[in-house]
Amino acid sequence: MISIKSPSLTPVSCPQALLGVGCLAFALLAFMLVRQLVKQRRPPGFPPGPSPIPVIGNIFSLATEPHVFLKKQSEVHGQIFSLDLGGILTVVLNGYDCVRECLYHQGEVFADRPSLPLFKKMTKMGGLLNCKYGKGWNEHRKLACSSFRYFGSGQKLFEKKISEECMFFVDAIDEHKGKPFNPKHLVTNAVSNITNLIIFGQRFTYDDRNFQHMIEIFSENVELAVSGWALLYNAFPYIEYVPFGKHQKLFRNAAEVYNFLQEVINGFSQGRVPHAPRHYVDAYLDELEQNAGVQGSSFSYENLIYSVGELIIAGTETTTNTLRWAMLYMALYPNIQERVHKEIDSVLSNGRAPTLEDKQRMPYIEAVLHEILRFCNIVPLGIFRATSQDAKVNGYTIPKGTMVITNLYSVHFDEKYWNDPGVFSPERFLDSSGNFVRREAFLPFSLGKASFLKTSISYDWLNQVIPQRLSCLFADLR
Ligand code: HEM
Repeated sequence: MISIKSPSLTPVSCPQALLGVGCLAFALLAFMLVRQLVKQRRPPGFPPGPSPIPVIGNIFSLATEPHVFLKKQSEVHGQIFSLDLGGILTVVLNGYDCVRECLYHQGEVFADRPSLPLFKKMTKMGGLLNCKYGKGWNEHRKLACSSFRYFGSGQKLFEKKISEECMFFVDAIDEHKGKPFNPKHLVTNAVSNITNLIIFGQRFTYDDRNFQHMIEIFSENVELAVSGWALLYNAFPYIEYVPFGKHQKLFRNAAEVYNFLQEVINGFSQGRVPHAPRHYVDAYLDELEQNAGVQGSSFSYENLIYSVGELIIAGTETTTNTLRWAMLYMALYPNIQERVHKEIDSVLSNGRAPTLEDKQRMPYIEAVLHEILRFCNIVPLGIFRATSQDAKVNGYTIPKGTMVITNLYSVHFDEKYWNDPGVFSPERFLDSSGNFVRREAFLPFSLGKASFLKTSISYDWLNQVIPQRLSCLFADLR
């Protein structure tokens, strides 16, 4: 007879249990540490770079003025060098030659966006700005570009609408009766209204608190998303579960913006007639309906909300900051302001409102705007890119999926292409007869596949919005 003896369960004492849990936690930590250190190793043939601190890498070096730090590092390690952002291997491109080689000559290879935890969480790598390079990017970009042409720069009426916005803007300045005020909100509202005309077919009034609040928290998120803190989140995404901290603020803001946009989109799509779009939202909904049931289509209601938000913020933050820098530099350099004024007065006699055609007759203003964009570096590190396939640059090997930072600041301060780059001098964009001249190493909108300049949206925008806005502004500064 076989007797089965049940195993005796010996009770575990409390210190033993604690020891067990401690050992397990230690093993887990050791595993995570080893995994992190392995992730931080530079692959063979990878560009050199500053030594990383174990675990966090070079994250803290990017906490303040990262573009300046990165340019200095390029003087030590060369135009292309690498960084470790807490296990995220990154390549930094500096100087015009290097940026052109990668973004232009190898445009396809450097066209992707990195799959960072923050982007995944915020927009699921969809929308427009941080969309992966491929079908979704192509579809969304094509629609955005054609909508911007169809409802914007391609229409004569659009120019008139910009002039009208300028009048609202000037009237709002007048309300301050010559007393000092911070123009930030006013400029933001006026600038975003130009994008709003294309996206919603309408402007928002300057006292629309809901819209203003949305822009404010969206801008706050843009700042948070490029802060050192965001780099930490990308390296250690499990901090998401910490119930306090800036990441929670970012998530709360994003949810609020999303809900607001959803409501606004619903409102502006009322009365839509299919195939007769009045604005970008209608055009998107047409695409959505046409592609319903098409396998692999990237058009979705969620992506519509992301795209609308990104177009508003991409157009507003950049153009607003350009105009704010312009105001500051006009105040700092009264002699330049004087010349700008003279040119406006000579072209716009009898107080006539400016038109796009007048731009050709204003080479000095064109030069001033270009110098502001060069000197002030509106987007100094571009938008992070990634390699879409293995790449070879300057003899280095960069594996597919590597994050790429384009230091546009280093391009605009590249001594090979600019004399005295640290001096603010609009003359560098003029020839000896005072005609405007384009400069090769002028890349405020970046270069290549993901640059909006290629499709000329940003550039049309600047051409149309800024000269008109500046002339209004100068009329008031006088
Ligand atoms: C002074 C004005 C502007 C500046 C300096 C600027 C700068 C930039 C830069 C540096 C990039 C990154 C390109 C890259 O990844 O290489 C970018 C992308 C982008 N910009 Fe602008 N921009 C401006 C105005 C605008 C405007 C008015 C809009 C539209 C309303 C816009 C929409 C976009 C979009 C959608 C992208 C993403 C393109 C893509 O990934 O395919 N930008 N911009």
